Amino acid sequence: MAQGVTDSLLAEGLARIASEIDGAFDALLPVPEDARARLIEAMRYAAIGGGKRLRPLLLTSVAEMYGVDRGAAVRAAVAIEAIHVYSLIHDDLPCMDDDALRHGKPTVHIAFDEATAVLAGDSLHVFAFEVLADPATCADPFTRIELVQALGHASGAHGMAGGQMMDLVAETSEFDLQTVTRLQQLKTGALLGAAVEMGAILGRVSPEGRTHLRGYARDIGLAFQIADDLIDYEGDAATAGKAVGKDASAGKETFVSLLGPERAREQARLLVDQAIAYLAHYGKEAELLRAVARYIIERDH
Ligand code: IPE
Ligand code: IPE
Ligand code: MG
Ligand code: MG
Ligand code: MG
Repeated sequence: MAQGVTDSLLAEGLARIASEIDGAFDALLPVPEDARARLIEAMRYAAIGGGKRLRPLLLTSVAEMYGVDRGAAVRAAVAIEAIHVYSLIHDDLPCMDDDALRHGKPTVHIAFDEATAVLAGDSLHVFAFEVLADPATCADPFTRIELVQALGHASGAHGMAGGQMMDLVAETSEFDLQTVTRLQQLKTGALLGAAVEMGAILGRVSPEGRTHLRGYARDIGLAFQIADDLIDYEGDAATAGKAVGKDASAGKETFVSLLGPERAREQARLLVDQAIAYLAHYGKEAELLRAVARYIIERDH
């Protein structure tokens, strides 16, 4: 497919999912007229008008390949984005990365306060599973359970939270490349992998039929984190919408600290090529997934 066509496919895909996710959070998080208003306002502040919506884009792109109803896919995408947003709220807290800027605006604990930020993260965490367990997401209870299980596994100690723990330990330990790879696979790769997996679950793809998609997800997961580390190393806070230079000042081992920026970038390119190769037996229905893979390392925020 011509480059221009692929670029517009990606731009349209990103714009479409951004407005769908904003709309769904808006509809699903009404502000109550009581003392909980501050909590829901903090959740909305973090969740609406935020990031790139990469996980929702991955989930809905896979779902679309298998003819899944768009509304169902968007609900599952809101669930995974809620987990991501919660992880960012907590990641920015003073007890973790102590960051004041996210998505180009003050972090939740700065705009509100720390206690509200903890509760907003907690509530978005649970909100994700409430949305998935709701029959409105999928009439079939077995599919709903599979979605809950996939997202739960990717979020907790065997996934994102476990990776966050390793990431904090990385500030005071000398991790080798293998350990940093494991760390990144959990911290970032697990949720990106779950996005692809959940699209396949909704599409009723058998576990054996998911092998290529899993290979794709694993490789873009690592490439994504190398790109994040490069943005931290050489990016610009105004463009990134978040503080940069944090990993080095925290003494954190990353792909960039271990390989240097040039080799890290080369590694990310190889991973993206490898990810796209996993999609070889798909046709043009996988073009958006191919474009997402390239975007993951070309992005500057
Ligand atoms: C940033 O993720 C945090 C990591 C998992 C490394 P994204 O770059 O996907 O965050 P937003 O939501 O698009 O800002
Ligand atoms: C955070 O990783 C990943 C999460 C699971 C939230 P980082 O700490 O590198 O993310 P940024 O750079 O603050 O977005
Ligand atoms: Mg962090
Ligand atoms: Mg951080
Ligand atoms: Mg980072």
